[in-house]
Amino acid sequence: MTRHAILMLFVFWAGISTIAEAQEVAAQRAVDFSRELSPFVKRFCVDCHGAKNPEGKVSLAGLTGDLSKPRELQVWQAVYEKLEGREMPPRDADQPTDADRAQVAKWLAASIRAAGVVLDDGKWLAPIKGNYVDHQTLFSGKAVVDAGGTNPRLWRLTGQAYEDYFDKLNKHFLLDRRNYGEFKLTAPWNFTPQPNFVDYASAHRVGEAEIEFLLRNASSFAQSMVKRHSKMPSYGNYIKELVTLIKAGDGATPEQAEAALAPTFQGLFQRAPTASETQRYGAFLRKTVATAGGAGAAEQLLIALFCNKELIHRVELPTGPTRQLAPRDLARAISFALTDRVPDEPLAKAADEGKLATREEVETQVKRILEDSAIAKPRVLRFFREYFAYDSAPNVFKDEVTLKKLGVREARGWNPDYFVSDADRIVLAVLAEDKAVLRQLLTTTKTFAMTVDPDDQKHTKADAYRLKKANFEADEQTTIKLYEVAIATRADWDPNRQYDFPPEHRLGLLTHPAWLVAQSGNFDNHAIHRGRWIRERLLGGRIPELPITVNAMLPDEPHRTLRDRMQVTRETYCWTCHKQMDPLGLPFEQFDHFGQFRKEEMVVDREATADKKNLNKDGVPRETRHKQVPLDTTGEVGGSIDPKLDGPVKDPFELIRRLADSEHVEQVFVRHAFRYFLGRNETLADGPALVAAHQAYSTSGGSMNALITSLLTSEPFMVRTTNPSEKE
Ligand code: HEC
Ligand code: HEC
Repeated sequence: MTRHAILMLFVFWAGISTIAEAQEVAAQRAVDFSRELSPFVKRFCVDCHGAKNPEGKVSLAGLTGDLSKPRELQVWQAVYEKLEGREMPPRDADQPTDADRAQVAKWLAASIRAAGVVLDDGKWLAPIKGNYVDHQTLFSGKAVVDAGGTNPRLWRLTGQAYEDYFDKLNKHFLLDRRNYGEFKLTAPWNFTPQPNFVDYASAHRVGEAEIEFLLRNASSFAQSMVKRHSKMPSYGNYIKELVTLIKAGDGATPEQAEAALAPTFQGLFQRAPTASETQRYGAFLRKTVATAGGAGAAEQLLIALFCNKELIHRVELPTGPTRQLAPRDLARAISFALTDRVPDEPLAKAADEGKLATREEVETQVKRILEDSAIAKPRVLRFFREYFAYDSAPNVFKDEVTLKKLGVREARGWNPDYFVSDADRIVLAVLAEDKAVLRQLLTTTKTFAMTVDPDDQKHTKADAYRLKKANFEADEQTTIKLYEVAIATRADWDPNRQYDFPPEHRLGLLTHPAWLVAQSGNFDNHAIHRGRWIRERLLGGRIPELPITVNAMLPDEPHRTLRDRMQVTRETYCWTCHKQMDPLGLPFEQFDHFGQFRKEEMVVDREATADKKNLNKDGVPRETRHKQVPLDTTGEVGGSIDPKLDGPVKDPFELIRRLADSEHVEQVFVRHAFRYFLGRNETLADGPALVAAHQAYSTSGGSMNALITSLLTSEPFMVRTTNPSEKE
């Protein structure tokens, strides 16, 4: 029964986001076909999709808008897809405004849903779809009439934040738990590296399996708390009223139970319970104390509180006439945007004293946290990891044979973890200067060498240990050779120093082995992948998903270069998509797939392999022979929104310099920062916030702190759209 009660609490909070969504859907009214849809289709579609000989064999003439007819429903679904995906009208045809397109798509979605079809609009919430919002409209500075803004929501905390809470609790109450290693309490969710932002507010719902897991964590910590409070502790922190309740045992009264409620809230969450919490948990306590006694009631209360939504989510609901987040929720939103921790004391105090009400007051706090180098801000570093997507380098498998063949000095010396932490350290160093951040990251010729994960608090100890050793080990030697940095002996090596790459061989993170390896395959560079990264992350372009009908394989012909084998994508049909990716990725053929700079390309030498001298007595080649062929690093930028960017490039360096000089690229970067820190894709209504954020970045000379400050003090961050249902 108590277990059931707790599950009910879960259901209570888990329901909130669903309520908000349901209301949003209900708020959309049905469509007046002849007034609203028909003129749009006539103007933008019917020229090509008329009654006679329509393009794509889809006629949009003579439709009635009656979606109860299966045929009409089918057509409108197709139209909806094309509009949402911005695939129709074709690029070179007359285009509707973004607001009109969005409005029509919204109407259609409502009508299609009303006809009983379940639409997966989750698809459009994914970060990969962010670029589908028109860039020029966003940055036009014109206000767009569109119901936008940030919806009320629950945003699940990072696993680190959840774990950090319990770790602090363990220390604060001297629970004496071994909360490390295999004994550490862990969050049921972990973000695995993905080719995009993983921590979106809409991306994670707490499912049933997780609820079980959370309950187990909560029970375990509740038991520790009860044990610790079962006699009056003589030292350290404790909750007096909880001690009284537990010691009263079976004779505990409902009054004693209720008296423990507020102090327990204070002890666990540093706040008083709200009126509705007092009522809800009060009733729960009165019931449990009668059946389970003082200790039992205390334990159940603690379990319920450890499953409280604020330990699992950022709670983001509008309050008052301004619809701004409640001060404590705003404080948490700020803190979890930058760190994995609950608000520090000054921030919590500001919230409690009503000094987090205006934009200026929020700015004071955000700036304070950003400028204090003693406060770790892992979420800022994580933004860069996820934006550049270099942190998956260790996941790309390279086999020993391949490694040896390409002259990586010793196969067992392959340690791409170094690449990632070295890239992390570059990011942190650039952030410490906080000037022209994007440009610096794209064009620096410095690197750190063989550092360890900066997230790892013990890294100075690890460095000290490694420094003491006599010789470089295989992985260190391999890294030095690959980086081409001047470190001859261990005495020359300092993990806290920036080393110079040969400036003619490297330029910024896109030429750093971390990025190059992350964007490679097992046996080759991945020019398509690299090109896609540049198209989407720097140029803000959109690439339709790879159709499932395409067999996306390059010919398995190791005697030909990658560029040569990629000729298959030049077929007209393939090229509509691949022209947007391949010419941007091919300049990086400058490097092999381990991230080594090269001047020639190695391919299989068929003649030498088949040569008699290489055959054994059965006529089978003893080994595969290779030869060097001339390297081609040319490429091209095309189809950019800013035509100044377009044109051929001779190598990756020319490409990178051109991109790094572009204001458009800077704006695309700002859009990605918005997505990460707001936890959702931008909409047209966010235009003003994006313009302000870009301005903050550019007038400050490229300061990331200025950019983040602008985002965290923006209306989309501080304010939630109205939600008519009553919230506590
Ligand atoms: C300039 C001509 C042109 C205009 C204008 C145009 N289309 Fe198309 N449409 C095409 C062509 C060509 C195809 C077939 C090739 C393709 O799918 O890209 C097509 C195909 C389609 C398809 C079918 C695709 C499939 O998967 O079978 C739909 C649906 C569609 N268009 C909707 C629209 C809508 C809605 C509009 C107006 C907002 C529109 N089109 C405007 C030329 C046009
Ligand atoms: C509608 C767009 C589109 C079309 C058309 C298209 N592709 Fe692609 N292709 C993609 C995308 C997107 C990717 C994935 C890029 C990435 O993320 O790495 C891709 C990836 C590939 C890859 C690399 C697969 C891998 O992961 O190693 C090959 C090879 C490829 N396509 C070949 C072709 C060929 C050949 C054709 C024509 C027959 C074709 N594609 C048509 C969009 C397209």
